[in-house]
Amino acid sequence: MHHTAARPGLSWHPELEARYAELGAKLEPLLPCLEWPLHLPWIDAIRTLKRERGAVIMAHSYQSPEIFHGVADVTGDSLALAQAAADCDADIIVLCGVHFMAETAKILAPGRTVLIPDLEAGCSLASSITAADVRELRRLHPGAPVVSYVNTTAEVKAESDACCTSANAVQVVEAMAAESGSERVIFLPDRFLGHHVAQHTAIELVLWDGRCEVHEQFTAQQARHARERFDARLVAHPECPPEVQAEADFVGSTTAMGAWLEKEQPQRVALITECSMADNLRARFPKVEFIKPCNLCPHMQRITLPNIHACLQHLQHEVVVPDDVARRARHALERMLAVGRRDRV
Ligand code: 13P
Ligand code: SF4
Repeated sequence: MHHTAARPGLSWHPELEARYAELGAKLEPLLPCLEWPLHLPWIDAIRTLKRERGAVIMAHSYQSPEIFHGVADVTGDSLALAQAAADCDADIIVLCGVHFMAETAKILAPGRTVLIPDLEAGCSLASSITAADVRELRRLHPGAPVVSYVNTTAEVKAESDACCTSANAVQVVEAMAAESGSERVIFLPDRFLGHHVAQHTAIELVLWDGRCEVHEQFTAQQARHARERFDARLVAHPECPPEVQAEADFVGSTTAMGAWLEKEQPQRVALITECSMADNLRARFPKVEFIKPCNLCPHMQRITLPNIHACLQHLQHEVVVPDDVARRARHALERMLAVGRRDRV
């Protein structure tokens, strides 16, 4: 997907190709054929640097296959990456994902150096709400606990009672309602994830109008087309609009999508989510045919092999969170992990 033109000193040679034959075979069906020789020197150099630096590379499910399969030590959804950061004992974490994921890692692993290859990798959900907005919501709904999706800034997390991911949102909302004695929970910022949660709980939710710019573009018509034209089962991320979720056979987090495929082993599936997700799962499920009614996340796509290499080489783009904000945000994240931790998948 990315164009990672090799540069002098980082060029392809036959010995490299032989050494990485197994990885090459795995990636071959996932990449346009001209790309492997361009990626391979970077993959080799990044692997060497990460050993020298004592670094761990964590990559979200939406990272391109050459990153996800080529250089990452830990892969998964937001919850898996948050758990891995909390449990990590490496000196350096390179977070291949978006900024809120790197902040989450830093908050949960305050003693580690957390680097992100591109500080501009943002998220439309995280930028949809501020700490002042959360304080105003609390003023309007006194007594209602605040549950915020991890797709938020550290400042917003610091104003929240608990965080959640798409994998544990229902559990966290119910736990916070029970703990506070309130029948109403403020759930932010994703309105569509809020809709998904509302269908699985009797708790009243106060929602914010944040949206994922990638998932909000999917339509019910596209979903029906995938089913009717390709006879595919449909799996959607809960950030999709409600009418798309209604068409799906399964709605879940990026890791839950993999678990569903494992269980159902469908012949053909349409993943209604970011494009890289299907690419990455194709390597794990070679017998499943993936239809891709997908959109790319421009923020996730900012992370490339060359900027991962630069990040490790120069130890650059450190993510820092002020102590007071980090302490309060950590409390909200730890509440989430206490309720909604999952066994590694
Ligand atoms: P997951 O929690 O499923 O990893 O999703 C995070 C995200 O940013 C989806 O757009
Ligand atoms: Fe944010 Fe959507 Fe990109 Fe996920 S896919 S990082 S929610 S903009």
